[in-house]
Amino acid sequence: MKKIRKAVFPVAGLGTRFLPATKAIPKEMLPVVDKPVIQYVVDEAREAGIEHFIFVTGRNKAVIEDHFDVQVELYDTLAQRGKDDQLAHLQRLQPQAGQTSFTRQQVPLGLGHAVWCARELVGDEPFALLLPDMIMQSAKGCTSEMVELYERTGKNVIAVQECDPAEAHKYGIVAMGPSVANGFEVTGMVEKPAPGTAPSNYFINGRYILQPQIFDLLSRQEKGAGGEIQLTDAMLKLMETQPFFAHPYRGRTFDCGSPEGFIEANVAYALSNPAMHDRVLGLIESFLDKPARS
Ligand code: G1P
Repeated sequence: MKKIRKAVFPVAGLGTRFLPATKAIPKEMLPVVDKPVIQYVVDEAREAGIEHFIFVTGRNKAVIEDHFDVQVELYDTLAQRGKDDQLAHLQRLQPQAGQTSFTRQQVPLGLGHAVWCARELVGDEPFALLLPDMIMQSAKGCTSEMVELYERTGKNVIAVQECDPAEAHKYGIVAMGPSVANGFEVTGMVEKPAPGTAPSNYFINGRYILQPQIFDLLSRQEKGAGGEIQLTDAMLKLMETQPFFAHPYRGRTFDCGSPEGFIEANVAYALSNPAMHDRVLGLIESFLDKPARS
């Protein structure tokens, strides 16, 4: 079985749910407490053993590449000023030379198309795919848990979580088959099902381990839900020849592509940071004591 060495991050999205904040700044660079959203997602991949980080970007996203570059002047200045802790922190987050690649999705044709744009960089090996809107909080990362299921089953793994049935039309939804290890085999999937038609309440939460044959199917460029080239449709085709397993993730997921999810993430990460927990909790309590006048 091939090791999962590469991860793809589709970061070309326009961030329309978060305008005007995302007019000039990529949504992936908005900070949750003190790190940009994309850093959480890259850290999750690194924890899972990923060695090569592939970003599918678009226009106005160059700052993401800068973020993962070495800032020589900044590092020198921190060293000269004796700010060793800050410097060490930045260096821990820093990918090594040659560990990152960037390509562009030239036209926004959908998630499936964005993933397809990474085909030459991924090559002929299984890979992880992490959607950068979603950040996940748990002791062990979602991708690490998925790699464990992959090592037991081989082939394709997708992370799922239960949702309110009323929300199922917003996601890709899987149909449940027999239990396998800590997860289950997937017997079907549908992107954005019409209300009342979802095959389960398990939605695809934005983490995947996929075999490279997905690229052949994506190259057909067939349009699905919303007129976009959908990854879910290509996965459903791949399921005709290869099994898919679902990993039910039990941690917390925050959709940082929306203001509400982003605020939730900031509150959750601030409260889980011992250095700011008491102050932030006190602040929230003070707002509850004195509700703003409407
Ligand atoms: C994408 C996927 C969908 C998945 C969702 C998770 O949809 O197509 O299957 O459930 O991400 O966030 P999007 O949010 O891009 O509409």
